[in-house]
Amino acid sequence: MSWKSSDRLMATIRHYAKFPATGVSLRQMVQFGDKPSTGTLFRASQFLSEELPIRLAHRVQELDDLPDGLNDMPSVTKVKDWYAQSFEEITQLPRPDLSRDVRTRLMKPAKHSGRQILQQLSEATPNPSIDEGESSGWGGLQNSSNGNGKARSLSRRYFATVDDTGDWPPELQIYNQRFAQTLHKIKRRHDGVVTTMAQGILEYKRRRQRMQIDGTIQSFLDRFYMSRIGIRMLIGQHIALTDQSHHRDPTYVGIICTKTNVKDLAQEAIENARFVCEDHYGLFEAPRIQLVCNPNLDFMYVPGHLSHMLFETLKNSLRAVVETHGMDKQEFPVTKVIVAEGKEDITIKVSDEGGGIPRSAIPLVWTYMYTTVDRTPNLDPDFDKSDFKAPMAGFGYGLPISRLYARYFGGDLKLISMEGYGTDVYLHLNRLSSSSEPLQ
Ligand SMILES: Nc1ncnc2c1ncn2[C@@H]1O[C@H](COP(=O)(O)OP(=O)(O)OP(=O)(O)O)[C@@H](O)[C@H]1O
Ligand SMILES: [Mg+2]
Repeated sequence: MSWKSSDRLMATIRHYAKFPATGVSLRQMVQFGDKPSTGTLFRASQFLSEELPIRLAHRVQELDDLPDGLNDMPSVTKVKDWYAQSFEEITQLPRPDLSRDVRTRLMKPAKHSGRQILQQLSEATPNPSIDEGESSGWGGLQNSSNGNGKARSLSRRYFATVDDTGDWPPELQIYNQRFAQTLHKIKRRHDGVVTTMAQGILEYKRRRQRMQIDGTIQSFLDRFYMSRIGIRMLIGQHIALTDQSHHRDPTYVGIICTKTNVKDLAQEAIENARFVCEDHYGLFEAPRIQLVCNPNLDFMYVPGHLSHMLFETLKNSLRAVVETHGMDKQEFPVTKVIVAEGKEDITIKVSDEGGGIPRSAIPLVWTYMYTTVDRTPNLDPDFDKSDFKAPMAGFGYGLPISRLYARYFGGDLKLISMEGYGTDVYLHLNRLSSSSEPLQ
């Protein structure tokens, strides 16, 4: 039987949507600790069992309020129901009954080698991707009240270590496992969100005979997909921390790698992009890509995010090079990937000689569904469940989504083109890792 939302559930969702989301920084996620105890994981579950419903509720409400009938498109309501159902699952998960003693210990800061230190979470700094004045909805770390008049203080912070001098009752561990399982199920449910939303936009374009989407929908999609990146980050991190006992790599904290090697990742992305290019155009050899990078350069990042951004920009360059110079060309111009190390940023420049983009089309490349591929391949929500990756090109999601990934941790993605010659893409990655998630 398919799931249906009730009026009561929708009322609860509307209530949660009044609360602001709490932004977390990469550094804070790492400070959480690389080997959390049962007690610490429980505290994290407590944070998430409030924070995730708040974030999900915002999305349900926004989907519900979409203008011009977009909210009624079958695929859009399908996505909305996924969000509402996940909201329900988290909020209805039964909490364990804890003794007074355990509750006190959970609230006490950790003891380290007999010395009691108050574990302070480093502050999250404003994310530079957000314009001033846009940051009003940031919540949590800056705001101590929620507009409902109720104070929301430190308990809503992500990071908490607890007094671990002693055993935790088994209920706690059982709850942690169940919570992680619930998150796992939710993560899988939402795998197809990007493709299904894209389908919803197509339905809308067809129904309304629209060629492009307007600014309201564009900025809705930016917020929506950015929020999705954040939710999946928190969920992925929590799942990985819960079962870290199984496979431990000292450079990993959850899904964050404290020593992400840029050269290795870039090399891998180059190989993957070239492989897809050869496959797509039936080339014996894809255009070459030269990589200039200090082999020892590493920094704290989520390798999956960096791979995604590099793969998407490289695919774009290879496509431009092949299509500008013709498939039966013997020798293509080489695309260059230059990696620069600054104190603040690591910047990766991808320079191709793929003919560039006319200046009038530059704003369009950042809009969803803008592509110069003639026929957008069929959107199959089951295709590549794990993440949205089109084979070569054709959905017009590559650049806008990559820019969201960059901005999520305080970086950015910029593009400069010389029409008639080629394109430079600048991928800025923030090394300081203290910037808060850009939540709006
Ligand atoms: N390096 C480049 N050189 C020339 N044109 C480019 C380059 N990168 C992007 N473009 C143009 O921008 C458009 C949008 O790029 P984007 O990656 O967002 O979507 P796509 O490649 O068409 O589809 P996909 O979602 O599969 O990536 C492309 O269709 C192409 O016309
Ligand atoms: Mg692309």
